[in-house]
Amino acid sequence: MRVAIGADHAGYAMKEELKDVLREEGIEFLDVGTMNGDESVDYPDFAEAVARKVASGEFDRGVIVCGTGIGVAIAANKVRGIRAANCNDTVCARLSREHNDANVLTVGSRIIGPAVAREILKIWLRADFEGGRHSRRINKISEIEERSGANE
Ligand code: RB5
Repeated sequence: MRVAIGADHAGYAMKEELKDVLREEGIEFLDVGTMNGDESVDYPDFAEAVARKVASGEFDRGVIVCGTGIGVAIAANKVRGIRAANCNDTVCARLSREHNDANVLTVGSRIIGPAVAREILKIWLRADFEGGRHSRRINKISEIEERSGANE
């Protein structure tokens, strides 16, 4: 599995924590930035960078951190093929994979602490999509994208 990871200034420190998890798990990753927590940046830029890496197929999954995880999820979900789930607890992390086949995880550095974020990422990386009835629903989400003319 290859993972693209990014954050805004609010999520920078948590991104660095989550890169440690990826290293521990032996997962190859690309960090699209931001590269420090001091300079204020705009979260859609980093959300889009991660989302495009996943949507293109170059990377299997994406992880994005901002203050709440909300802004980056909204932005990432504008890219066709992206199913970004903002999960600030472990149950949602597991279910976002099993039911929603989420290909991007977002977390909020101002909502949860690093230990919870680390656990969320581990669970999210290990959980598999259950398919079955959930596939039909994922297909309907793709159909909404088609009707809305979402970006490539
Ligand atoms: C930045 O101040 C903050 O708005 C951002 O990190 C995020 O929480 C947006 O959803």
